[in-house]
Amino acid sequence: MIVDRQGRRFRNLRVSLTAACNYACTYCVPDGKRLVAAQDELSGQALARGVAYLVEAAGIERLRITGGEPLISPRLEAFLDSLAGLGLQDVSLTTNGQLLARKLPLLRAAGIRRLNVSLDTLDAGAFRQIARGGDLASVLDGMAQARAAGMSIKVNMVPMRGQNLDQVLPLLEYCLAQGYELRFIELMRMGHLARDGNAFLQQFVSLEQLLVLIGQAYGYQQASAALDATALRYQIPGRGHFGVIANESVPFCRTCSRLRLSSTGWLHGCLSSGNRHFIGDLLDKPRHQALPALQRLLVKALADKQDMAFSGGVTVMKVIGG
Ligand code: 5AD
Repeated sequence: MIVDRQGRRFRNLRVSLTAACNYACTYCVPDGKRLVAAQDELSGQALARGVAYLVEAAGIERLRITGGEPLISPRLEAFLDSLAGLGLQDVSLTTNGQLLARKLPLLRAAGIRRLNVSLDTLDAGAFRQIARGGDLASVLDGMAQARAAGMSIKVNMVPMRGQNLDQVLPLLEYCLAQGYELRFIELMRMGHLARDGNAFLQQFVSLEQLLVLIGQAYGYQQASAALDATALRYQIPGRGHFGVIANESVPFCRTCSRLRLSSTGWLHGCLSSGNRHFIGDLLDKPRHQALPALQRLLVKALADKQDMAFSGGVTVMKVIGG
């Protein structure tokens, strides 16, 4: 097991099935520039072998499938099939929900019970402006079907001044009523937002500002959360919970246990580091050769973690997932 001086180790792996996405959200894709179609992506089996090797070499316990948008990947089924027998404690998925209703049987068959769905607004016009793709009704329908199938659902919202701040309360009320847990994600300085500090500052909404806004409509109290959780959790008595992932206001680097694997075979130890480590060429090697090489790369990836706080990253979520 590889542990750093702060006692951190990799427990949670996020695998991006594809860098392609059917959205082009404003915080992920710079204005007017759609990211080009994904290239050089590994096969579903190769990615699953990567997971198997990382489970062994790093002691991964929990897996989250991300993208891009994982549900548009033709590798989804093969990847899910290959996960059985890896002994993972938990497999979950982050999606924009657009294809959720259609892919639900596949996800259920693979034993996935927890979903994070990205949804920044309930207003169809604002939705088109932020996501620049997809449609709102499909997302809401997909979530309702997933809930009816027994899945637990968290909704991710990135509150942004000038875009969807007026949606904080409507979305919270909707999630409370539907039994989804809403999680607000403070805007992160990633990609073009790392380069353009003004665009970031104009839109950024802090934990404190959010809580003031929510406090005008609801009584809430802080609730407990797992030690390595990224979200602060709050309870609205009698109604439910919401969370805030306060990257800027309450950095959580000290307890970060996340490792990311891109769809093209690169390991990322930290969203705030430009470093990445290629493992694609190890995945067709036998275990006894692959594991020691992987261990060496994991030491480097762990050293890429920030000591204290996220300080901005050159990459975007689209490439390595949330
Ligand atoms: N800041 C905050 N959240 C972001 N996401 C993507 N890019 C950013 C950013 N720059 C969110 C998406 C998705 C989650 C995985 O990350 O909305 O819900």
